Amino acid sequence: MSTKKYQLKWGILATGEIAKSFARDLTVNPETRGRKDIEHVVVAAASSSSADRAKAYLKEVNAPASAKPYGSYKELVADSNIDIIYVATPHSHHFQNAMLALEAGKNVLCEKAFTANAAQAELLIKKAKEKNVFLMEAVWTRYMPISIYARDLIKSGKIGTVERVSSDLSFASAPEDNFDDKHRLVNPDLAGGALLDLGIYSLTWVFQTLYTVQDKPQPPTVLSSIRKYKLGCDQQTSMLLTFPRKEGDAHGIATTSLRVGMDPAKNGEAGPCIRIQGTKGEIQVFPPTFNPRKSKLILDDGTVEEKDWTHPGPGPGSGFYNGFAGDFGPEGQGMGMFWEADECADALREGRKEGQYESLHESLVIMQTMDEVRKQGNFRLPEKVESTEYPLDL
Ligand SMILES: NC(=O)c1ccc[n+]([C@@H]2O[C@H](COP(=O)([O-])OP(=O)(O)OC[C@H]3O[C@@H](n4cnc5c(N)ncnc54)[C@H](OP(=O)(O)O)[C@@H]3O)[C@@H](O)[C@H]2O)c1
Repeated sequence: MSTKKYQLKWGILATGEIAKSFARDLTVNPETRGRKDIEHVVVAAASSSSADRAKAYLKEVNAPASAKPYGSYKELVADSNIDIIYVATPHSHHFQNAMLALEAGKNVLCEKAFTANAAQAELLIKKAKEKNVFLMEAVWTRYMPISIYARDLIKSGKIGTVERVSSDLSFASAPEDNFDDKHRLVNPDLAGGALLDLGIYSLTWVFQTLYTVQDKPQPPTVLSSIRKYKLGCDQQTSMLLTFPRKEGDAHGIATTSLRVGMDPAKNGEAGPCIRIQGTKGEIQVFPPTFNPRKSKLILDDGTVEEKDWTHPGPGPGSGFYNGFAGDFGPEGQGMGMFWEADECADALREGRKEGQYESLHESLVIMQTMDEVRKQGNFRLPEKVESTEYPLDL
């Protein structure tokens, strides 16, 4: 006897690079990852520039022919056929766009960094509660099996008490040679800079191993250093976070840079980008920090356990590729964004209003941490980007 699958109907807000990767992953059959009970379908997409662009996007990501293209985000959030909106604009725009969707009573999955600052995040959380809808920051890494494995190992006590975690996400991509001044990675008008774009992943690993796993987690104190780029945003940031705990403070070291690379030869020779160090051993996670596919557990009794984390998908010979901005993975493997999409389906089916591996409160604490880092580095974004006024034309 076949049971009916729970179908989640997605509306995609924006048609840029990550919106393409995400929607392509939605087309991967969930059964390839052992999920026979859910399915995802893209029912609409909107571009802020034109309905034609939305139409081309839907075609490119292989959405069903019935999916509707919209030429404005306002039309998208008014579509009653949509269960959840995926916000995939630059982070400067997340507050305005997510608020638009929440105001319309829609559930929302919002790309990282959640917002430009904590004050904006707080207002989104308040609005989601008021409207009784689901809201989640799209930190896909948290929903990957490798993250679940690392957190479970920590909770099992196998590596003892975790005293220190270091985590880096850096690309040697000198901004003056690689990005024009309008690019979202360096443009203050688009909330550019390494911290909000890449450093959020370094922080993700520090938080999910030192904060998420605690019974009563406390926000960390912050010491940090920022090196700015000529346009005013950060190009290299280092953070030392102290997490208060009953068994003694733990240290998290989170770094990000556009000047040096975590894996210069792109072959893993540089070693782990994340080290989770406990009193009885450590877990190493290998680049890239946001989508790692290799881990190594080393215990003080000499045990070494190496694991490869290939992603499920339609498999070799399928002609399916997914990745980001042309940097595609092996044939037949999904990019790995579907696990966070599955979490949205599970939450909506169960009536949960937030993700199970990163509460909205934790997203807020991380935004507060990044606010403090920016304050210490005297790095402020343009007023309209930092603004909590809604609606506001950016
Ligand atoms: N999860 C991940 O691994 C991952 C990877 C990369 C990026 N991201 C996050 O995803 C978000 C988007 O990044 P992306 O690389 O997809 O950016 P992108 O390629 O530049 O796309 C952004 C899209 O946002 C829309 N948009 C609306 N107003 C805009 C404005 N003033 N300037 C530029 N674009 C505007 C545009 O779509 P329309 O014209 O269709 O409206 C544009 O295509 C960022 O917050 C980023 O941090 C996440």
